[in-house]
Amino acid sequence: MSIRTATFNKVLTIEIARPEKKNALTQAMYSAMADALVAANTDVGVRAVLITGQPGVFTSGNDIEDFMQRPPAAGEAGEGAELPPVVRFMHALLDCEKPVVAAVTGAAVGIGTTMLLHCDLVYVSDESRLAMPFVSLGLVPEYASSLLLPALLGHVKAAEKLMLGEPFSGSDAVDCGIANAVLPAAEVVNHARRMAERFNNLPPQAVRETKRLMREPQKARIREVMAAEAALFGARLRSPEAMEAFQAFFQKRKPDFSQF
Ligand code: COA
Repeated sequence: MSIRTATFNKVLTIEIARPEKKNALTQAMYSAMADALVAANTDVGVRAVLITGQPGVFTSGNDIEDFMQRPPAAGEAGEGAELPPVVRFMHALLDCEKPVVAAVTGAAVGIGTTMLLHCDLVYVSDESRLAMPFVSLGLVPEYASSLLLPALLGHVKAAEKLMLGEPFSGSDAVDCGIANAVLPAAEVVNHARRMAERFNNLPPQAVRETKRLMREPQKARIREVMAAEAALFGARLRSPEAMEAFQAFFQKRKPDFSQF
């Protein structure tokens, strides 16, 4: 298990801990994170959730080996079928009623960046490098990033990040409204934890209802976009473009898209 959870001083910490694979997220890891988030909603001993990674890496995103095995995306799973763990995680974070704070300890790739759009407070380290290289992998954006990022940045700035897949720094993330502040790498987790603990001194129902008021109006649209993205994403996982990109990653070479 590469997800560690612990509650201390009313903050549930979800720590991504698979450093040997740069914290790449497997289906089991998504499941563990989804379960922890769902349980937090009804746990009166939890006032806030903190999501964090390892020194130098928050997460390198979805495990590319899992991508190659093409787990079904939402919509492909069929009526009544159990949702894939990644989709369960996305909905659990989207629907988390408690404040969620992210401590981005380093690289945040793919869902490592898109999940930040669904957190309430985001702190990045001065070593963080964020990227959403979906196109470079022959894929399309997920987690409503195709909706939320243009809304946050405007089309042209979002296009640099989603269509060109350009990486950006922690301070860029602050400038574009994805993160609250950049901290020295050694301080980011403690700072994020202190911010999460501030909710301990606030009335929990008022916090919860404020979050609901801020998030609820957009949720139906976010779910629609997530479903549309997931249908395309699932199809793209089977594309020759994606196969070339995944193979190139593991062969440690540049992908060659010239034949497509
Ligand atoms: N899925 C599966 N394995 C991954 C991975 C991922 N997303 N990210 C890293 N790894 C593995 C590498 O294959 C390597 O394994 P190995 O030691 O068995 O060869 C190990 O983790 C270390 O990765 P490496 O690329 O050597 O580390 P780095 O410090 O040079 O680079 C990253 C770190 C995060 C920039 C780089 O690993 C990366 O770009 N990863 C892929 C990110 C990605 O495209 N994710 C999907 C987004 S949709």
